[in-house]
Amino acid sequence: DKPHVFITRRIPDIGLEMLSEHVEIDLWEEELPPAYDVLRERTQRADGLLCLLTDRIDKELIENSARLRVISQYAVGIDNIDIDSATKRKIPVGHTPGVLTDATADFTWALLMSAARRVVEADAFTREGKWKTWGPTILLGMDVARSTLGIIGFGRIGQAVARRAKGFDMRILYYDNKRLPEMEETLGVEYVSLETLIKEADFISLHVPLTPNTYHLIGEKEFSMMKKEAILINTARGSVVDQEALYHALKERKIRGAAIDVTDPEPIPSNSPLLQLPNLIITPHIASASVQSRTQMAVMAAENLIAGLQGKRLPFCANPQVYEK
Ligand code: GLV
Ligand code: GLV
Repeated sequence: DKPHVFITRRIPDIGLEMLSEHVEIDLWEEELPPAYDVLRERTQRADGLLCLLTDRIDKELIENSARLRVISQYAVGIDNIDIDSATKRKIPVGHTPGVLTDATADFTWALLMSAARRVVEADAFTREGKWKTWGPTILLGMDVARSTLGIIGFGRIGQAVARRAKGFDMRILYYDNKRLPEMEETLGVEYVSLETLIKEADFISLHVPLTPNTYHLIGEKEFSMMKKEAILINTARGSVVDQEALYHALKERKIRGAAIDVTDPEPIPSNSPLLQLPNLIITPHIASASVQSRTQMAVMAAENLIAGLQGKRLPFCANPQVYEK
């Protein structure tokens, strides 16, 4: 008998094909995620679970899934999963680091450039027939070249963002809870305190995972310390930023602008006042959404799941503690 696996959304075919050789698939085919009750019920019957960041994999669900032997998350971030509960039950949790690093760093730059040079506003301006002539002061933005970039969270993605910044002759500051001296030399980046970064950067980009320590890392106090011309980019997780403080900072022009790919909650409610702000760009959590990246994520998620069901160590495990004696 093949093991039984619940997959909470259709992932790129290659992942499903890899899995179908090894497992019996229960696939949630809807566009929207399964409701929590459905998720819990279907997971109860499963030996393996392949889930997305839209699925809440909490203590109750994990404790009620007696057969469950492996969780494979189709994402690098795992803040939707109660890792401690999984570890307690010796369930390894797989994720997909590395394969989305470049896609996410590229998209961070797409947002940064768009916010700096007002690309989204300019497109709307053109379509709305407001382009009457070439104007000396129409839609002025900010220089990216030779400005100061502040990267908060210097893991794989933060480093990839820094690498791209070198071509723009930027001064690059980073803050992380661990200092990486070798990187400082090879990437030409400076380690500074969070406060210094916030005060000195023209562009601030977030690349931390969401944890209790990074929840609302950027709030009213931080916005008040930023430069008046600062632009904030968030491709990490929505609640790393206090969204109400972001609204006020943008509305009252305490900072120049922001571009965010993530919100709290997701999707952003259609009546959110954020959607009224001209100096904010919002995209629907698509930083890893390149064809190549999403395909490789499917392969990696399938590999993690298969390894877990075969009792092998997951190639990419978010809770390697499960392998300690
Ligand atoms: C996407 O947000 C991810 O964590 O992979
Ligand atoms: C995620 O891939 C990170 O370490 O930034």
